[in-house]
Amino acid sequence: MLYTSRITGLGSYVPENVVTNDDLSKIMDTNDAWIQERTGIKERRHIKKGDGNSTSIMGVKAAKIAIERANLTKDDIDLIIFATLSPDMYFPGGGVRVQDMLEMGTVPALDVRNQCSGFIYSLSVADQFIKTGMYRHILIIGSENHSGGLDMTTRGRSVSVIFGDGAGAAVLSRNEEENGNGILSTHLHSEGAYAKELALEGPNTGQWVPELAETINPDQEQIPYFPYMNGQFVFKNAVVRFTEVIQEGLQKNHLQSTDIDMLIPHQANLRISQFVQKQFKLSDDQVFNNIHKYGNTTAASIPIALTEAWEAGKIKEGDTVVLAAFGSGFTWGSAIIKW
Ligand code: UT7
Repeated sequence: MLYTSRITGLGSYVPENVVTNDDLSKIMDTNDAWIQERTGIKERRHIKKGDGNSTSIMGVKAAKIAIERANLTKDDIDLIIFATLSPDMYFPGGGVRVQDMLEMGTVPALDVRNQCSGFIYSLSVADQFIKTGMYRHILIIGSENHSGGLDMTTRGRSVSVIFGDGAGAAVLSRNEEENGNGILSTHLHSEGAYAKELALEGPNTGQWVPELAETINPDQEQIPYFPYMNGQFVFKNAVVRFTEVIQEGLQKNHLQSTDIDMLIPHQANLRISQFVQKQFKLSDDQVFNNIHKYGNTTAASIPIALTEAWEAGKIKEGDTVVLAAFGSGFTWGSAIIKW
């Protein structure tokens, strides 16, 4: 017999430091009108040097809230899954850092490297562990410290205005009731042919660091230590893949778009969310967006948005909730949940 998993606790944390579009226009050639029109972003949060935050520390803060709201303690958690593209260290990953900071004995920790789809991939992995009965409660964290690695000059503006810092967490638990609620299905995809269209190439083990230092020419168009994004190409793929993978999830569960109570798209760009909303003819009440406050927080964006939607009472027991993401890899995925 397979068990069903459901989300029993949600939490989020963002750094206090608010960076508005006007703040950015003081350090690079950009402006509030461009950013709002192209992305929907008004402000984002950035870790401030010395404020004590890091990717894994923000993850711990979000995790504590999620565990408490699940009416559990850290000792009830059987597995940690940590999704990020901006780990504190090259290795080991953030999962073991969280495990140590929360003093969780020798509980296993797994890191997921799937960028914007990191949370959905993590949810899918956690769901399989719970379905088979191997684990009962799994802590899933998505956290990003983007600001520590962005090119905050005009050269990097097409990427750096978009991304923000923050963390979200969820506890996935075995559903002890036979009410059919929980994760109905997850759908995952990737297309490595486009790996370089949204990537941070260095420093990496293919480039010897001492040699790297000699190659830096401050005038070069793209410095390999900063993320690169072919924005329009990514955008065009995103709108197609978001639509496909939501459709795949609906079909699998014999649902129509009218059955969706809440769609939480990865917060990549308000225009992408609006495109998807239109494709499925969803009302404003059926889609949750908060990109105007946080920008794109990659692996953290869905769990932060899910937490805020739940806190605002927009998700109720029995609702059909759809999560969908697309990003670097390319990787994309969806999850269909009966809440
Ligand atoms: O989360 C992972 C997945 N990520 C995504 O899905 C992101 C997908 N892509 C996008 O969201 C959009 O492509 C962007 C928001 C990144 C860019 O919007 P766009 O409408 O595709 O703009 P663009 O790159 O075509 O640039 C248009 C113009 C250019 O100037 P010219 O060549 O027309 O003179 C850029 O140099 O806007 C200029 N520009 C800026 N101007 C002011 C680029 N960045 C900025 C900026 N401020 N920050």
